[in-house]
Amino acid sequence: MRLSYRLIVWLIVGVTAISFLFARRQVKAEKLGLRNDLARRAEILAEGLEEIVEPVLDKQSTETLQRLVERFGNRERLYGVAIYSDRGKPLAVAASLAAQLSHDVPAVAQQAIAQNRSCQAYLKLGDKTLHVYALPLHRETEIVGALAVFHDTGYIEAQSSKIWRETFLRALAQVVFIVLLTLVIVRWTISRPIARTAEWMRKMRTGRESHREPPPEFPQGALFQPLTHEVTHLARSLHAARAAAEEEARLRADAESFWTAERLRIYVESKLRDTSLFVVSNREPYMHVRQGRSIESVVPASGLVTAIEPILRACHGTWVAHGGGDADRETVDERDHLRVPPEDPQYTLRRVWLTKEEEEGYYFGFANEGLWPLCHIAHTRPIFRVSDWEQYQGANRKFADALLEEMEGVEGPAVLVQDYHFALLPRLLKNKRPDARVAIFWHIPWPNPQAFSICPWQRELLDGLLGADLIGFHIQSHCNNFLESVDNAVESRIEWERFAVNRGGHLTVVKPFPISVAFMGNSHDAPSRGLPPPERAALLKQIGVEAAYVGIGVDRVDYTKGILERFRGVERFLEKFPRFRAQFSFVQVGAPSRTHIKRYSDLLAEVDAEAERINWRFKEGKWKPIVLLKRHHSHQEIDLLYRAVDLCMVTSLHDGMNLVAKEFVAARDDEQGVLILSQFTGAARELRDALIVNPYDTEQLAEAIRFALEMELEEKTARMQRLQEVIKEHNIYRWARDLIADLSEIRLDTPETVVAPSRSAGASW
Ligand code: G6P
Repeated sequence: MRLSYRLIVWLIVGVTAISFLFARRQVKAEKLGLRNDLARRAEILAEGLEEIVEPVLDKQSTETLQRLVERFGNRERLYGVAIYSDRGKPLAVAASLAAQLSHDVPAVAQQAIAQNRSCQAYLKLGDKTLHVYALPLHRETEIVGALAVFHDTGYIEAQSSKIWRETFLRALAQVVFIVLLTLVIVRWTISRPIARTAEWMRKMRTGRESHREPPPEFPQGALFQPLTHEVTHLARSLHAARAAAEEEARLRADAESFWTAERLRIYVESKLRDTSLFVVSNREPYMHVRQGRSIESVVPASGLVTAIEPILRACHGTWVAHGGGDADRETVDERDHLRVPPEDPQYTLRRVWLTKEEEEGYYFGFANEGLWPLCHIAHTRPIFRVSDWEQYQGANRKFADALLEEMEGVEGPAVLVQDYHFALLPRLLKNKRPDARVAIFWHIPWPNPQAFSICPWQRELLDGLLGADLIGFHIQSHCNNFLESVDNAVESRIEWERFAVNRGGHLTVVKPFPISVAFMGNSHDAPSRGLPPPERAALLKQIGVEAAYVGIGVDRVDYTKGILERFRGVERFLEKFPRFRAQFSFVQVGAPSRTHIKRYSDLLAEVDAEAERINWRFKEGKWKPIVLLKRHHSHQEIDLLYRAVDLCMVTSLHDGMNLVAKEFVAARDDEQGVLILSQFTGAARELRDALIVNPYDTEQLAEAIRFALEMELEEKTARMQRLQEVIKEHNIYRWARDLIADLSEIRLDTPETVVAPSRSAGASW
């Protein structure tokens, strides 16, 4: 039976049953009331008659008695009056009664006379039911007879029938009204939205739905919430799966070798088979922070997160990281786990907690005041404190323990250790789990051996790293520097022909893996091509930009990023080319970073002051040359800005790769925009169509800005197309695939771990 019919039947049954129950109660109460009323009236009448009849009865005059009963018998609803002798024999009976009342009335003889008390009873007379009220008649104290008053109770039954009739009509009207109302409500709020949703899903299933067509309005309310959630989710998954399949088909048809999330997932599944992927990094991909009374999930500004997140999404697995958000502890389960991304969980995040002292010594101290400036040649002196080194060792042990716990029961796990925070981790892991395949990727540069040798614990760091089976850097020169550092400082045999270090029989392969972003060409999921002029104008106005030409820089405020050098380049440009004054503004998105370290908080103030100085110098009306946005911006916000500007400046003084350069290129689906890129970034090795600059050369920076703004449209397009080709072919999925391929080909069963020469040789776990 259809839902609406079932609903109607149940409504009819329900409303009728309730009406019936209420009517029954009402009829009962009404009957009782009328009967009591009748009894009272009979009693009053009988008592009135008693006073008149008693003296007359004395005289034994039947005629007088007969007259009396006739006279009183004429009242509303009174059926008649009868007078009886002391033996219960009728002496006078009203004519209306006499014809039918042929027998004695038990209430008279047996109760009124025999028991000497008034009484009442009901008596069936033909088709009538009579109410009898009888009372004894006295002379002095002696019973001399009885008096009976008879009332017709027909009106009581008539009243009950009336109530039943009215109840029936009322119930009928209610049922009709409720049923109609229910049908209308069901149709408008349930059937129609569901039918539209079903139609939308059918179109989607059959592939006739355009993904630009918005989903229909789903039924609202708590009842539908789970269904709405699932339908939306299902539709999205279907859409994503179809898009991925189409993309795959397109790639196959083009005989191209582009890597996609789906392709990577299948690849990792086939390579890892029964084992799992573990990633460990200091920075977590999702941080929970308190915003007033609510808790928000924030994606931190980190190149590492930008790069690793798509891999975990594609391959699932477990990511172990420091829980640094002030609401992080409230959002994990008892095993410190949570599933992320929060809106569409795909992998597990395991948070590790650090004390203030640990964070201070390991993260701010050794990692960021020691190793960071040591590895970046940016003229900030590294600081090495024994206490920081001890905390660094302790934190590495803590993360190793967490990782070992996660890997329990997993055979031959694959571990990707991330960055300079964990130089000791590979050795700690391998000592406990020799069956694990361990790779570490160093996201920052590796300096030359002389520079590196100033670290008092260089041997310990190198030994920790050499616990890994594979060490990855962004570019070849970092690999070379690393091998030279090893050669310089530790007991080992360097195998230059295959770029590996043999230390104590364990072989570590060292290779470049240029990291990238999740870009698959213009078919990637950018919502539209470029940013239409009205949207661009509105966006720029919103951030306080009033200029015809706009440049952008996006960085953590870090001394390696060359932000001050960039500002000086802008200043020189306006000095040299005054025609661009009031025409060109530079937007600097600067996410405050590591501000607990003095050098960083000082830099933040310097950046502010420098922007202020330059703005003061050139400011005209509402226009100013530098718009400094000093806060964390989401990927979506930055993506919009990338697509609204004319050029992007990456002027790092030294950078492992720099993903801002690649993100900018990936965002420009209009194939416009010019990238100005520092020669000291890893990205400059690949992005040859950027305008490559030396950030220390202010004249060159100014020239590059002019050149970018005056570049012909065709040239911009041609350069951007070539840049996009590079990133498309070498996207993050390809990076992960290369890393996992090399890691999976490592053989653990021989003392000398080797990477098989050919990937197609079929070596497996
Ligand atoms: C660099 C490092 C990353 C780090 C990022 C942000 O890119 O290589 O490991 O995550 O900076 O720095 P933070 O200290 O905020 O994590």
